[in-house]
Amino acid sequence: MASLTIRKLDEGVKTYLRLRSAQNRRSVEEEVRVILRELIEGREEPLTGSAAPATLSPAPTPQRTSALAEASVTLIIGGGIAAFKSLDLIRRLKERRIEVRCVLTQAAQQFVTPLSVSALSHERVYTDLFDPQSEFDAGHIRLARDCDLIIVAPATADLMAKMANGHADDLASAILLATNRKILIAPAMNPLMWSNSATRRNVAQLGRDGVTFIGPNSGEMAEAGEAGVGRMSEAIEIATAAERLLRPPVPRPLAGKRILITAGPTHEPIDPVRYIANRSSGKQGFAIAAAAQAAGADVILVSGPVDLDDPAGVAVKHVESARNMLEQVEASLPVDIAIFAAAVADWRVANAGEQKLKKTSAGMPPLQLVENPDILATISKMKDKRPPLVIGFAAETEHLIDNAKAKLKRKGCDWIVANDVSPATGVMGGDRNTVHLLTRNEGDIAVDSWPVMTKDQVATELVAHIAKSLANKPLEPAK
Ligand SMILES: Cc1cc2nc3c(=O)[nH]c(=O)nc-3n(C[C@H](O)[C@H](O)[C@H](O)COP(=O)(O)O)c2cc1C
Repeated sequence: MASLTIRKLDEGVKTYLRLRSAQNRRSVEEEVRVILRELIEGREEPLTGSAAPATLSPAPTPQRTSALAEASVTLIIGGGIAAFKSLDLIRRLKERRIEVRCVLTQAAQQFVTPLSVSALSHERVYTDLFDPQSEFDAGHIRLARDCDLIIVAPATADLMAKMANGHADDLASAILLATNRKILIAPAMNPLMWSNSATRRNVAQLGRDGVTFIGPNSGEMAEAGEAGVGRMSEAIEIATAAERLLRPPVPRPLAGKRILITAGPTHEPIDPVRYIANRSSGKQGFAIAAAAQAAGADVILVSGPVDLDDPAGVAVKHVESARNMLEQVEASLPVDIAIFAAAVADWRVANAGEQKLKKTSAGMPPLQLVENPDILATISKMKDKRPPLVIGFAAETEHLIDNAKAKLKRKGCDWIVANDVSPATGVMGGDRNTVHLLTRNEGDIAVDSWPVMTKDQVATELVAHIAKSLANKPLEPAK
């Protein structure tokens, strides 16, 4: 098949390619590949901005070459025996959905071939600083910047010396000098090279420059009879270290805490087919459950009938009536924190029909209402299994703060999240909420009013308040 030399294309085409590839953070070659693929698939990914010729329409945000990749790495392979382990490293990184573009030093090509590296990475391999094809668009700068992380494995004593002293006389060192990305290096060398005072100085300098090291490990060397510190870390260790730099662990301030949350309305039967309900959608309680789970808590969600998917990683107990809800809440104890966001019906029908009630000439059947159990008050006033932190919700249509303060005192809970649910607010069933957090404060009640937020944001904020309060005053463990 004929090959295409970008250098020989018309000036106008080259300018277009240069602009488009810069905008999409791809090399010109990759951009041509994308254009051809789009052409075959019948779609076009255009160019935006003032630089775009008038005939071109807006472009999407820059993409990675692989739609599945979540991050990308430039892997520089140095000239050491351990270079063969980098072949496995490519596989380990790709398993983690990390795109890998490889650069081989001249010496590295004595140990592994560009062909095997490119077959494993599914990408072109870069070897030369003075390569007209890739330097057409300053390829070394692109390799230095068009990635989320640079890994040097194996990092030879020579490469480390070049890095520490700012050399840029080959492609690998020029990339390392031109980058503003994090650098992870996996040294590999003979123990005497590693302990040499020149290498010690270079290691110290690179540490000061913010380079992250993985290894070297100690063990047998390739040279017969030699052992000590200098073995390159295993591919899996390097991939794990890379992943940690690319995806730092999210803080999990509620790890180890068991949290119970109620959500949604309750349905109080009139007969087997009819019920009394309210307009609660369950969205706020579900959002809190998801936020608590994301913060590392072990979450149990007791939900009334709602039209929502169960949040991932949360143990959900589905119930119908207030009495079912109380049963499941009690069965879930002990917990460290209980958040009662459900809109539990205050009353139920005392004489719910066993069969469907029929119209009769005697007129409407009398529906006698009796009070439902008060779940918030019951749990707040428990003697032995009371959770150390009990949070209630107050949904009010008038005198919001006064009613919420009274509820906090009456129910015996620790915090109240008060929200105005009058129809004009659109809170019931909607996606936004305006809440006030009421907390007990040295015999008084403090009110913290939050701006209008989405229910997800309210949930995140509430979880952050819980985490902060735990950090200030750890809870007694749940009994
Ligand atoms: C067989 C052989 C094995 C080598 N292994 C290593 C090694 O593990 N670590 C190292 O720092 N240098 C090693 N070297 C020396 C490097 O290949 C040499 O310093 C080279 O210039 C490094 O080039 P680079 O840093 O551009 O890859 C080895 C040399 C040979 C001949």
